[in-house]
Amino acid sequence: MGRQFFVGGNFKMNGNINTIRNIVQNLNEAKLDPNVEVVIAPPSLYLLLAREHLRKGIEVAAQNVFDKPNGAFTGEISVDQLKESGITWTLVGHSERRVILQEDDAFVASKTKAALDGGLGVILCCGESLDQREAGKTIEVVTTQLKAVAEVVHDWSKIVIAYEPIWAIGTGKVATTQQAQEVHEEIRRWLATAISPEAAENTRILYGGSVTEKNCGDLAKQPDIDGFLVGGASLKPAFVDIINAKS
Ligand code: G3P
Repeated sequence: MGRQFFVGGNFKMNGNINTIRNIVQNLNEAKLDPNVEVVIAPPSLYLLLAREHLRKGIEVAAQNVFDKPNGAFTGEISVDQLKESGITWTLVGHSERRVILQEDDAFVASKTKAALDGGLGVILCCGESLDQREAGKTIEVVTTQLKAVAEVVHDWSKIVIAYEPIWAIGTGKVATTQQAQEVHEEIRRWLATAISPEAAENTRILYGGSVTEKNCGDLAKQPDIDGFLVGGASLKPAFVDIINAKS
């Protein structure tokens, strides 16, 4: 059995009660490829709304989580609070949090560990800036980000890696199939040596960055692309076509 195709929708800080309801209704009524694992990540305020109305079989993810169990951490949400609300996944290490909120590799690793220990699945994001790519440092940057997690997490069975080159996020400038495949292959090679051959074989590696219903087909054909983490297009009805990219 191969790796199950996985499509995540990261709504970022977009939407309101009405639009979230519409997106959920659209997904509930759509004909989705039953072989694809689908997870949507609305803003935290709408996690419960989405979970309550979304059909069974589609999971909900937080966009972020904190690494402490409870206490005086204003503005944060714990793993247990998510779990209690039926939220089964969380994103960790999105470049917008790494860059804008200045989360470093160690913090991302600590949050990944807390989420996994508490029973959540983790969509672990990594990716390089344009400067880093042009300096030939893409693989070094990405594996350094992943290494920080490998130092504290040994079981990668509930981690899905999302490779999101920063220069392709929200820019309309999608990585070529070759650029994406190259990095995915290197990540898989890194998993084989740093974690285990089984982790390399079984870990889903998603591509994220300006994925649309138009470019998803070719990307989905690459041997090491196991799905997508979709931003802007996940807010549109065409998200369904991206979920069905393989069918
Ligand atoms: O997490 C998804 C992401 O950062 C890509 O965003 O809008 O380029 O699809 P977008």
